[in-house]
Amino acid sequence: MSVAPATDWTDRMLELTVGPVAHGGHCVARAGGDGRPADDGRVVFVRHALPGERVRAVVTEDPGGAFCRADTVEVLTASPDRVEPACVWAGPGGCGGCDFQHATPAAQRALKADVLREQLARLAAPAAATAAVRFDEVVVEELPGGPLGWRTRVRLAVDDDGVPGLRAHRSHDVCEIRDCPLVPGGALEPVLERRFRPGSEVDVTVVGGTASSAGGSRVDATARIGAGSTVHAAGRTWELSAGTFWQVHPALPDTLAGVVGDWAAVPRGGVAWDLYGGVGLLGSVLARQVGPDGTVLVVESSPSAVADGAAALADLGQVEFVRGRAEREIGRLRPDPDVVVTDPPRTGLGRAAVRALAARRPRRIVHVGCDPAALARDLALFAGAGYRVTRLRAFDAFPMTHHMEAVALLEPLE
Ligand SMILES: C[S@@+](CC[C@H](N)C(=O)[O-])C[C@H]1O[C@@H](n2cnc3c(N)ncnc32)[C@H](O)[C@@H]1O
Repeated sequence: MSVAPATDWTDRMLELTVGPVAHGGHCVARAGGDGRPADDGRVVFVRHALPGERVRAVVTEDPGGAFCRADTVEVLTASPDRVEPACVWAGPGGCGGCDFQHATPAAQRALKADVLREQLARLAAPAAATAAVRFDEVVVEELPGGPLGWRTRVRLAVDDDGVPGLRAHRSHDVCEIRDCPLVPGGALEPVLERRFRPGSEVDVTVVGGTASSAGGSRVDATARIGAGSTVHAAGRTWELSAGTFWQVHPALPDTLAGVVGDWAAVPRGGVAWDLYGGVGLLGSVLARQVGPDGTVLVVESSPSAVADGAAALADLGQVEFVRGRAEREIGRLRPDPDVVVTDPPRTGLGRAAVRALAARRPRRIVHVGCDPAALARDLALFAGAGYRVTRLRAFDAFPMTHHMEAVALLEPLE
């Protein structure tokens, strides 16, 4: 039973036995056993802890309801999965970017798999009932390149003195970092030496590590601010304008392209849609499958992504970019699709888009999701619309953080 507190717990020190990991980069514990029976049972979301540990944690946020948030300040009994974080900011009161630096990379992937399984169990029961795969057996696969030096795009926050850094967890404060170990070797340093307009944000693109050299030429990386970049994936090259979407992990574009290549199986001369298609990374794979007599419609809302994608895929006459909101375009696109790829932002597809898509009756839908809760909700909606999950994979595309990327193949139930 959860107990709402009579007083604000902020800054209170708790001694906790840490329970399972939960979605959002923290574990669940219950207050109690410290001589204050009235507090017993209150849920505490505790950061920088691991399941099974005994920790002392300070309450950082108390919204006043059934739960509060805390951060570990002392580990009394450590998990065997615990390691020393690579960054001094990856701890209590520190940067909000990394949630799991205190765990081995294998343990991080196990934590993410637990979260994905739990979200699927809670939110996707109708999909589990018809799926050809077991949701409780899904794993989170490692990508090449290791847990550090993978982040090719970083948003810096600028403090009141004009100093750039990384945003502190759930705060407006800025951590004045000297470097970030997730960014290829030293690439951020020249940017961090500069001063910017107080209160602004600085988008940094790291140039030099490419998808094909994810584990290799990182030392050559240099950071560029607000500039475009050249990227390579799926055997092609894109010139990206500043602000155009590209996957942050250098190995993810080729990984997703590989999965789409395996699962989409669009017939030659057929029709495929790439919804939320960015610059047409996955559309280029579909174009190869349909061949010159087929049709690939890439639907994307960002004008710069459409312009960059159309330029990069200009040699593929079967590809057409449609600038617009995918949810609206689903009902209007012609011709009907054999196969659809969907890769929406974190919020997922939602009820209206899933219904509209199912009404177009594609033979296969390859759905990419970067939030396990949104993915689970969308899979449940697809189950209600007559589609079953026949394949499911997940990837650790954001090591050290709680984020992950998952891909599901959906096929009609009958
Ligand atoms: C997760 S990215 C995927 C891009 C692409 N599949 C890739 O892997 O490079 C999502 C894309 O959807 C676009 N987007 C966001 N909301 C949209 C909407 N309502 N309709 C169409 N595109 C949208 C974003 O600009 C972004 O390019």
